[in-house]
Amino acid sequence: MCGIIGYVGKKDKTQSVLMDGLTNLEYRGYDSAGIAYFDSQNIEILKQKGKVHTLSSLIEKPISTCCGIGHTRWATHGKPTILNAHPHQHGKFALVHNGIIENADVLKTKLSEEGYQFYSDTDTEVAVALLDCFYQRNHDILLSIYELMKRLEGSYAFAILCEDDPDSIYIAKNESPLIVGVGNLEMYVASDVPAILQETSKYIIIEDMEYGKVEKDGVHIYNMEQEEVSKEILTFEGTMDSAKKNGYAHFMLKEMMEEPDVLKNLFQSYWKDPDAWKKNLPDFEKYREIDIVACGSAYHAGMIGKCYLENYLGIPVAVSLASEYRYQSIFSRQDKLVILVSQSGETADTLACLKLVQDYGMDTLAIVNVVGSSIARIADYVLYTNAGYEIAVATTKAYIAQVASFLLIALAFSKTHLELEDVKNLYVVQKQFLEKHYSEIVNQLSDASRIFFIGRQVDYAIAMEASLKLKEISYLMSDAYAAGELKHGTISLIQEGTPVIAVVTDPNIAEKTISNIKEVKARGAYVILIISSQLDESFDWCDQKIVIPKVSTLLMPLATILPLQMLAYDIALAKGCDIDQPRNLAKSVTVE
Ligand code: M6R
Repeated sequence: MCGIIGYVGKKDKTQSVLMDGLTNLEYRGYDSAGIAYFDSQNIEILKQKGKVHTLSSLIEKPISTCCGIGHTRWATHGKPTILNAHPHQHGKFALVHNGIIENADVLKTKLSEEGYQFYSDTDTEVAVALLDCFYQRNHDILLSIYELMKRLEGSYAFAILCEDDPDSIYIAKNESPLIVGVGNLEMYVASDVPAILQETSKYIIIEDMEYGKVEKDGVHIYNMEQEEVSKEILTFEGTMDSAKKNGYAHFMLKEMMEEPDVLKNLFQSYWKDPDAWKKNLPDFEKYREIDIVACGSAYHAGMIGKCYLENYLGIPVAVSLASEYRYQSIFSRQDKLVILVSQSGETADTLACLKLVQDYGMDTLAIVNVVGSSIARIADYVLYTNAGYEIAVATTKAYIAQVASFLLIALAFSKTHLELEDVKNLYVVQKQFLEKHYSEIVNQLSDASRIFFIGRQVDYAIAMEASLKLKEISYLMSDAYAAGELKHGTISLIQEGTPVIAVVTDPNIAEKTISNIKEVKARGAYVILIISSQLDESFDWCDQKIVIPKVSTLLMPLATILPLQMLAYDIALAKGCDIDQPRNLAKSVTVE
């Protein structure tokens, strides 16, 4: 969370690089934004509550400076106010931060005893005050940053300005992403490459516990032995094309519209040459157990992945939330594979799990969308979902690509077969769903005080994802339950008119779910049935019905989620919500 940008180079470019970079990074957080730059020797700071465009209104005359840093915030310590917004300043330093300083309270107390006064509630201000404290003693910027890193606990990516060196940006990193973009007599600092892709595709990755100095004509990076490390300049192969709305009202809508083609491309890349496709993957035959670890929607994709891998590879799979997995007992086995699923490849909890299981010597496979992200770089094996750049906070096309990736693994390593015709049919079904709107259901649900989703097995996993999508962007209280679990407590919440969205596509357990639906109907629920055409009988007693046309069983989850994503979108639209940047959220969750 939080986006960091920095630029050192040409006087007439700093303002545009900082402001464009912040706009590109806004998906990482949008509570407040700020910039710091040199006005001759002095640091000037502008910060504002709210989104980046509110910051632009503070710039009264063009900023002419060679060097500056910027930040868009997702609040961790203290409310989203101007005082808590970054950059933070003490003494000669201004600093922006992505991460959490875990020992900030202890450090703050000590610094207060030394006479420091704090104006904000943030952990970041403590870091810049401590940096200033070291600098007052040793008058050496790099040494002070090194001392700072030795004292800080937690995660951070810092970009720092110091009034004693107005031609440089200083940086430090631990556990939060940070790259340096390389230009011609100009350099960039950013949380990710796409933030600066319109300027350069050449970049350097800063690793954990590295720090350094970025000048317009060079970069010097050091490790905690205080030795300079040589860094490879990489080239980013992606483009910014998919980062445009292309006439759609929202990125989420545009990204849903891309889903059929994302899947088509994924299946084509597999079918072209299945052996080549699986060449870089681990040999699944050698594993007796699989753990799938992920957060949010990626976790829901993992739940469907479990069904594919267990049913078709016959390997037992446990699916865990990364935030829980990292603190539970790890049962290390050489014949266990751990699969980490992440769109961004930067999610702090998932990344921590990856490092943890690698310390135990277990094999790891990352299913990741963002090329070159931390999780992709660190895992032993990577399967890219190739869904393209996803901007909307609510994931749609990346989620569906994660589900499809699990299916492709099942196909590649088992005798299960899928006909090309089935995939073509899925494409048509998806396209049809993307044209459909369910205005009656939207009206019915928009004012509901709570909504229940139910299903069993794969349908339960879909119910969970649909419920998350709805609450994330429409702020409606909803929850998903395993259909058989209701009568163990939750059914007491069902009253006359309570909306229950029931997903029934798995023929093996359809009857059981139908019985559960009848139970809630008998208690007054307003039932919206999502049912596959094969199972659709005369369910006249349901209040609403969405029928999923005939699709191969293997592909069914890839069809069923579409109308549910669209429903969430339409409800959020009807309620006037900020669909692409919902309240309190960020696209990339880089703090624990
Ligand atoms: O980047 P990741 O896939 O690791 O992100 C995991 C979750 O934060 C993410 O799926 C989140 O739940 C989405 N905003 C849901 O739409």
